[in-house]
Amino acid sequence: MTGEKSPTAVSRRTFIKGVIAGGAAVASANYLFRASTLLGQSPVAALGERLIAITVNGQQRRVDVMKQETLAWTLRYKLGLTGTKLGCDRAECGSCTVLVDDVPHYSCSVLTHTVRGRKVLTIEGLASSDGKLHAVQRAVVDEQGFQCAFCMSGFIMSAVGFLKHHQNPTRAEFAHALSGNLCRCCDYNKILNSMMRAAEYTRKDAHA
Ligand code: FES
Ligand code: FES
Repeated sequence: MTGEKSPTAVSRRTFIKGVIAGGAAVASANYLFRASTLLGQSPVAALGERLIAITVNGQQRRVDVMKQETLAWTLRYKLGLTGTKLGCDRAECGSCTVLVDDVPHYSCSVLTHTVRGRKVLTIEGLASSDGKLHAVQRAVVDEQGFQCAFCMSGFIMSAVGFLKHHQNPTRAEFAHALSGNLCRCCDYNKILNSMMRAAEYTRKDAHA
């Protein structure tokens, strides 16, 4: 018996693989059906309404979005833009900050359906097409302002939004502007050093 494959063992293995695959398919179908019927829609009608186009980082992206889906979820898990981080998922930490029409928003608290026709900018869209980093990104690199950097993209996007209208802020004004972003490593002093450097680079870029 040793060394020989028993036909029974092979068919049992195939059978188990089939059960696992079938179970996964049934589970996804149940999820789809349940989510749709919870909203009082048939699954087929719901699918038509869920296919939308949104503008992210200058590109139109077609995506299947549930009515209750947040922008953070769509960006990360449908569009693969994982630079946007999910921390608290309830509008407290700012790690999910993106710009919507140039204004910082907590993407965990914005429904994706509400950004149709608006411009969404994430950390992935900041560098220019020739690869040059944005002034805020360059400043962060130069000042090494973060420790674990989980909060970094949220801080950067808030700073980018702020600097669009305040190119010569005081340190206190910048600290106030970033007060909606939390850093668990409490690296605030170094973060503010980076942001003041970012303001300096932004002014230089504007006069270049
Ligand atoms: S994850 Fe959005 S504010 Fe914390
Ligand atoms: S650097 Fe770690 S959370 Fe901010």
